[in-house]
Amino acid sequence: MVQRNKNIAKLQAGYLFPEINRRKSEFIAKNPDAKIISLGIGNTTEPLQSTAVKALKDASEAMGTAEGYSGYGDEQGMTALREKIAEKFYNNIIPADEIFVSDGAKCDTGRLQMMFGSDSTIAVQDPSYPVYVDSAVIMGQSQLYNKDNDQFNGIEYMPCTAENGFFPELKAADVIYFCSPNNPTGAVATKEQLTKLVKFAKDNKSIIVFDAAYAEFISDPDLPKSIYEIEGADEVAIEVCSFSKPFGYTGVRLGWTVVPKALKFEDGSSVRDDWNRIMTTVFNGASNIIQTATINMLNDEGMKEMRELVAFYMENARLIKNALDSYGFTTYGGDNAPYIWVKTDKMDSWEAFSYILETAHIVTTPGAGFGPAGDGYVRFSAFGGRENILEAIDRMKGLSL
Ligand SMILES: Cc1ncc(COP(=O)(O)O)c(C=O)c1O
Repeated sequence: MVQRNKNIAKLQAGYLFPEINRRKSEFIAKNPDAKIISLGIGNTTEPLQSTAVKALKDASEAMGTAEGYSGYGDEQGMTALREKIAEKFYNNIIPADEIFVSDGAKCDTGRLQMMFGSDSTIAVQDPSYPVYVDSAVIMGQSQLYNKDNDQFNGIEYMPCTAENGFFPELKAADVIYFCSPNNPTGAVATKEQLTKLVKFAKDNKSIIVFDAAYAEFISDPDLPKSIYEIEGADEVAIEVCSFSKPFGYTGVRLGWTVVPKALKFEDGSSVRDDWNRIMTTVFNGASNIIQTATINMLNDEGMKEMRELVAFYMENARLIKNALDSYGFTTYGGDNAPYIWVKTDKMDSWEAFSYILETAHIVTTPGAGFGPAGDGYVRFSAFGGRENILEAIDRMKGLSL
């Protein structure tokens, strides 16, 4: 018999969101009439905008013609799309050939582990998007799970708390994962904080993996949307980004990763070249229909529609946050991020998750699922239809965490 991968065996109860779904299904089985509102997993709910729909239709139809048909393309993505991303999201401060188009930020995060390999050490914000820790464990970058502190031995956890304004004391590791706007806390790092992060990485010869999947949800012009707004970041940082949330592409699938040419490994070799090697080996390019459509959608109208979609979800965030504040909850985030991080004083976060599910029939996400420092919080996602958001707000009245 084949031995099970010992690193997979190290993973705890499973990936967070399947575990939440399991508990939700258990509740529904016992309460089949309950009308559940899901503000748990940050899944988009609103239909695609009209420019995207038209562009996708046109690109699909073109594939049905001899002139418009194409098969495999460049693994790095279509040049015109890389150029559009450079223009629309980076004001051309990033050259197109440092942008690698992909099927999403989550997938790239997993493939990055393959590039770093099992000998690398990592540091993560605690709490954080579970993919960083889980993919590191699978890659063999950690030792066993330690039940005493709810951490994997060998991984550096950097607690982000209300006390430190959700910007952690930085810890040295080969790779430092940093997500801003943050999932789950909704915190957004300032220019000064990111400058500190870049300097820390330089001093410690670390590489930052900066997750900017929610960059477009920032409306405060003083807050950086990209790590490359910080001088010298191109020598220390990779940035992963996504069309998923701002464009409603969660099911369409498109993202990108920036790997600057200035970024080098210890031996002086190019990180970009290794990333190119990984992508050409285990990835065969994002769908050409999606890429072509997105090239044609990334115009003034498409960007305007994207901003409208973001504004819709951010209005949800405002409604949730204002309501919870008025009920006396302590909330964080929700201003430049689509997540509201809510303090629980009387119960731990899984208890709060169950209490909200059983009393208000709302699915949230327990903070502890994002790391031990997330205990004592639950996350509310602003991704939802307006009617559901208003109903959820109403149901939260009178609850006490
Ligand atoms: C922080 C963060 N990064 C990446 C992703 C995944 O992005 P994608 O849909 O592009 O794989 C998510 C999705 O929820 C996320 O919260």
